[in-house]
Amino acid sequence: MILVTGGAGFIGANFVLEWLSGSNEPIINLDALTYAGNRENLESLDEDDRHIFVEGDIGDFTLVAKLLSKYQPRGIINFAAESHVDKSIHGPEEFIQTNVVGTFRLLEAVRAYWTGLQNDIKQNFRFLHVSTDEVYGSLAKDAPAFNETHRYEPNSPYSATKAASDHLVRAYHHTYGLPVLTTNCSNNYGPYHFPEKLIPLIIVNALAGKPLPVYGDGQQIRDWLYVKDHCTAIRLVLKAGKVGEVYNIGGWNEKTNIDIVHTVCNLLDERSSRADGKSYREQVTYVTDRPGHDRRYAIDASKIERELGWKPAETFETGIRKTVQWYLENQSWVENVQSGAYRAWVQKNYLERTN
Ligand code: NAD
Ligand code: DAU
Repeated sequence: MILVTGGAGFIGANFVLEWLSGSNEPIINLDALTYAGNRENLESLDEDDRHIFVEGDIGDFTLVAKLLSKYQPRGIINFAAESHVDKSIHGPEEFIQTNVVGTFRLLEAVRAYWTGLQNDIKQNFRFLHVSTDEVYGSLAKDAPAFNETHRYEPNSPYSATKAASDHLVRAYHHTYGLPVLTTNCSNNYGPYHFPEKLIPLIIVNALAGKPLPVYGDGQQIRDWLYVKDHCTAIRLVLKAGKVGEVYNIGGWNEKTNIDIVHTVCNLLDERSSRADGKSYREQVTYVTDRPGHDRRYAIDASKIERELGWKPAETFETGIRKTVQWYLENQSWVENVQSGAYRAWVQKNYLERTN
């Protein structure tokens, strides 16, 4: 079996669902169920013995050591993290705790377990760390996309903590020989995306008749990948990736934020038009920019394509259609995640931003 951390969050839940739809290998899912973790994402697995859910913290050495000894996984995929840049600006402490200290403690527990494994099992064991393109910093307009040797220049508390965790993972390979793999992926979108992030926030606000907040001039560029394509890439890296290597994952889909917002509005106009017949674009509101906002990210995915034969299945056009449709069909999921804590966050983040 394998152990995933953070498997009740956006990417982790998609990964667990995909994994069990294509394989009978069981998954232990260790998740602290922070505001971003949601058991409802996995409710289709409630009666499925192949999914073992454990509520707990990656930073809890004793718990992780117990789980490793009990289940003897052949591999670990570390999705668990605090993941929202704006939240890291308002309060970096939790990011240090989970992304840095938590990853460190997880690595320590894994190192102790792996050291005690027997020959073949030890050799085939893998620790896959899921990271982000944000560790590379911000690109100038015409600069080439990030490849795996691009220097680390993290600019937000979030990306700094992810960079620190990447360095720890690297060090555990070089110093102790732990068989690690690291993936650095661009912006994901798709089902179960928590509506604090741009695409689901725009869909949810549009349908609720609320303003669509665009930071600064809306010309910042992100490189978008449908979440299931990210999951396929992770599976492939786990299976065939070279120990100690880094793989950048992206869909070659650079878009400005305002283009993204307009695309979502157009799709909603088509599928769930406003009662007054006007476009959802009318709700776009430019607001104060994110402090230290990175201008452009772009991933050069040629290494994973060349060495492992990975290619995304979705274009942005097909992926965004599926995503909008998923949100239209899953209004109750949206309502359930909009708890008091969510509403408090929205107040805090957007009330301070002047038009
Ligand atoms: P998310 O915020 O949706 O989910 C994070 C999950 O981790 C939640 O289920 C949460 O409960 C859990 N968690 C948080 N702290 C924990 C802890 N201390 N112990 C155990 N579980 C804990 O995040 P996501 O968007 O699914 O991102 C998953 C990973 O992928 C993160 O490491 C993130 O940095 C990385 N990543 C995300 C994107 C993206 O666009 N979302 C892109 C590239 C990389
Ligand atoms: O690049 C990978 C990263 O993508 C991941 O590592 C992060 O975990 C993930 O959250 C995401 O980070 P971003 O900061 O790019 O995502 P977010 O959805 O928060 O913002 C996308 C862009 O949209 C960014 O330029 C900020 C802008 N934005 C965001 C929000 C929430 C707005 O203009 N308005 C908003 O209300």
